[in-house]
Amino acid sequence: MCGIIGYVGKNNNCVRVLIDGLEKLEYRGYDSAGIAYFNDGKINIFKENGKLENLKNKIDLSSSSNIGIGHTRWATHGKPKKENSHPHQVGKFTIVHNGIIENYGEIKTDLEKKGYVFKSNTDTEVLCALFDYLYKSCKDVLKVIKKASEIIKGSYAVGILCDDKKDKIYVIKNKSPLIIGVGKDENFIASDVPAILDKTNYYISLEDNDYGVITKDEIKIYNNEKLKNYDVEKFEFDADLMDKKGYQHYMLKEIHEQPDVFKKTVNDYVNTSLDGLIKKMPDFTKYNKIRIVACGSATHAALVGKQMLEEYGNVKTDVETASEFRYSKPFLNKDELVIVISQSGETADTLEALKLAKDNGNDTLGIINSKGSSIARCADMVLYTKAGKEIAVATTKAYSAQVAMLSLIALNLSYKKDLISTHEIKEILNSIRTLPSQMQELLSNEGEYKTIAEKLASHNDIFFIGRKVDYALAQEGSLKLKEISYTHSDAYAAGELKHGTISLIDEKTPVIAIVTDESVAAKTISNMIEVKSRGADVLYITNRLDDVEDGLYDKKLVIPLTHKLFQPLLTIIPLQMIAYEVAKIKGCNIDKPKNLAKSVTVE
Ligand code: AGP
Ligand code: GLU
Repeated sequence: MCGIIGYVGKNNNCVRVLIDGLEKLEYRGYDSAGIAYFNDGKINIFKENGKLENLKNKIDLSSSSNIGIGHTRWATHGKPKKENSHPHQVGKFTIVHNGIIENYGEIKTDLEKKGYVFKSNTDTEVLCALFDYLYKSCKDVLKVIKKASEIIKGSYAVGILCDDKKDKIYVIKNKSPLIIGVGKDENFIASDVPAILDKTNYYISLEDNDYGVITKDEIKIYNNEKLKNYDVEKFEFDADLMDKKGYQHYMLKEIHEQPDVFKKTVNDYVNTSLDGLIKKMPDFTKYNKIRIVACGSATHAALVGKQMLEEYGNVKTDVETASEFRYSKPFLNKDELVIVISQSGETADTLEALKLAKDNGNDTLGIINSKGSSIARCADMVLYTKAGKEIAVATTKAYSAQVAMLSLIALNLSYKKDLISTHEIKEILNSIRTLPSQMQELLSNEGEYKTIAEKLASHNDIFFIGRKVDYALAQEGSLKLKEISYTHSDAYAAGELKHGTISLIDEKTPVIAIVTDESVAAKTISNMIEVKSRGADVLYITNRLDDVEDGLYDKKLVIPLTHKLFQPLLTIIPLQMIAYEVAKIKGCNIDKPKNLAKSVTVE
């Protein structure tokens, strides 16, 4: 879930390297941080609750050391406090850990019977004590790690120091991502490439059940006691990655990148014709049903995709939340295509749902934004979105790239099944050409969004309503507002309001009505009028130059009209921007909202 960094090398500036790495991992969200390093044969451990600044204030960045590990924690076991932060030390072992040791309770009880006394409430300290206990009877650290991996259950990426091996960092990985950075007379460990990009862009992605040891000039990786060959990959460095380019927040920068992201994601498949769409995409016509499984905003993208796949691809599509899908009877038919969508490619629930589908014998497709990620490596087929690395915790450009990719799949199916006319293809090609400038037009409306946000910022409950694709967009708009401005909001299928929720509508209750799907526009407008007549303050977002009387809403935001396949990519922009402006007014930490992490690698 959170951040790991480790260094072993020729330089003696390990402490600086660890802090640099943790600073680059801050974007993932965390609640505490710590480092451990060897100096003059002694282990030094510093850890503090809260922001990294608190830790930096307690350490001497010029301390000399050439080996150490660091961690930013996102608490799962034991509340955020200094005693529970990492690194944890027990006996000869000091470790940092991302993930969850699910059977830590029984292991802890057993170790307490053997005399271990625990200082923290964490599962990680238990893992550290297990290493120490096993080491008492086997002085081979690699064997100890392997033995421990046969005992523990759950997800873990672990960096390990042992007092008896002061030139080595040991690692073990299962379900939580961990990479080894390959340098010259120095090597690194990290939970994510950005942590070490300023030191090296060569890395090895560990696979599940890999474990190993690194020194400054040697890397050994094992799986099931066998030494593994490994590929060293090169991360294509994007110099702009961490540069806000004048935007106040990464999120705003990434919202504004959406026109380019659309072009990059679509241009691989479509330019003056749909030929690329056919040649470069797998054949999806053989599936008579599609099941899309994802989490959070990726699920909301899937809900938009469902509308497109059913309407244009004429294929029944069900969308499931991964954390529910994994524990329900899946009722998966073998001829169903299972699509998983993930920006990070490391979301634990989505990864486990993917494995479940594969174990069931289904063909699987990943729509992924992160090359070489665990989900990308596990799926049978992958279509990469081209959003580039997303730094803001709240996804925007990756979400819209997912929506665009799903529309392309729907278009592929429509074309291959001969369900679309030449005329409509021309219309679609034209809409693809004009969409980026229409997105830019919406992005230039910042003043409009600020005005709307000023009205919303004082409210605690905001309602988003829509039908079909507009309901899917309402859900994403609501999540954006919740996660970055901490404002409670909810999205409702507009047709459902009268079945209970409308009792919540009072004088001045803010309701954001999204009306872009012509097939249900009249119905949603009726729902809008229902809430307006009960005193709601209605923001009417639409692509329709319609004849709805002024008195039936309080504010109308007209967005450009484009082909239905790509309309959601325009509709989402005001929703992202309104959430952003409300969060700004409320002084929230927009790029790193409280309690959130960029990649949820715990279940
Ligand atoms: C998006 O704003 C959220 N931060 C979150 O819901 C995210 O979409 C979800 O955790 C899925 O992440 P993934 O796309 O990396 O799998
Ligand atoms: N489960 C561990 C803890 O709660 C690790 C959490 C994390 O991944 O940051 O300390």
